[in-house]
Amino acid sequence: MSEHSYRVIELVGSSKTTIEDAVKNALSKSADSLHNSRWFEVAQIRGQIEAAEIAYWQVGLRLGLAVERVQKEESSGKAVLSAGMARKNSEGSGSTAPLTGRGKYRCKVCGYIYDSEKGDPDNGIKPGTPFQDLPEDWVCPECGVNKEQFEEIKE
Ligand SMILES: [Fe+2]
Repeated sequence: MSEHSYRVIELVGSSKTTIEDAVKNALSKSADSLHNSRWFEVAQIRGQIEAAEIAYWQVGLRLGLAVERVQKEESSGKAVLSAGMARKNSEGSGSTAPLTGRGKYRCKVCGYIYDSEKGDPDNGIKPGTPFQDLPEDWVCPECGVNKEQFEEIKE
């Protein structure tokens, strides 16, 4: 897969010392959830002033997240595998409720909420589709991260 599409999200990092540190802080804080990030550009550089001194550097970044489309056969195989792994994880962690995929799931990156009752009709997901049954190559419609970046909303 050499051709990628990218979703672009915005981040702001801050540092008391340097602009570069502000960038590094933004990237390192988001590293866990944005493992598919591929590039960044600096959109803004600001400083916060306190008592006529530079209190913080603030750097606004645009982050490019690779949106990878996998082959259909591959994706169905992976879907089975990852659904199995998800179940195993939930048992192993001593989590109380089993993962059913019903209900709502929140994107940890941008806050988008997937509601299984509503589905994601814009992207061909019918209402009533449990989260676990979403295709493996389904990505957050807002920011483009994959399903692993979603967490169940306990109600
Ligand atoms: Fe998102």
